[in-house]
Amino acid sequence: MQPKAVLALLATAFGAIQDVQARGEFSRSCTNYYIENNNFLRATCKNASGGQVNSALNLNACIGIASTSLVCRANGNYAANGCRACLIRTGAYMLCGCPGGNKIADLDECVANRNGLLACA
Ligand SMILES: *[C@@H]1O[C@H](CO)[C@@H](O)[C@H](O)[C@H]1NC(C)=O
Repeated sequence: MQPKAVLALLATAFGAIQDVQARGEFSRSCTNYYIENNNFLRATCKNASGGQVNSALNLNACIGIASTSLVCRANGNYAANGCRACLIRTGAYMLCGCPGGNKIADLDECVANRNGLLACA
């Protein structure tokens, strides 16, 4: 294999790894998180000085409906568009009953901790 081809392969593999890594990672520095009324995420998160801060985030601002899952999308409005009975299933994965079936969102992809406050990633 040519060195250039090897480099291209490495670059592709690295890109793929970066794609699967969560962007927001709120769950690393937040505890007691849960979903309220389909689209409000509540959590206690550490701020820059190590204090614990309670906050809530309207996930309609961060998550939208795709064909087989819920995806990170600004003003995606998944709940306004019909997803119901949303809850944290395991880890930071949220499960909802949506038009077309159950769908899952990786909240660690879509939500970040910004100095103690939950925010769209
Ligand atoms: C962090 O949170 C604590 C407790 O709520 C607060 O007293 C402190 O001022 C906060 N620090 C920053 C940098 O926001």
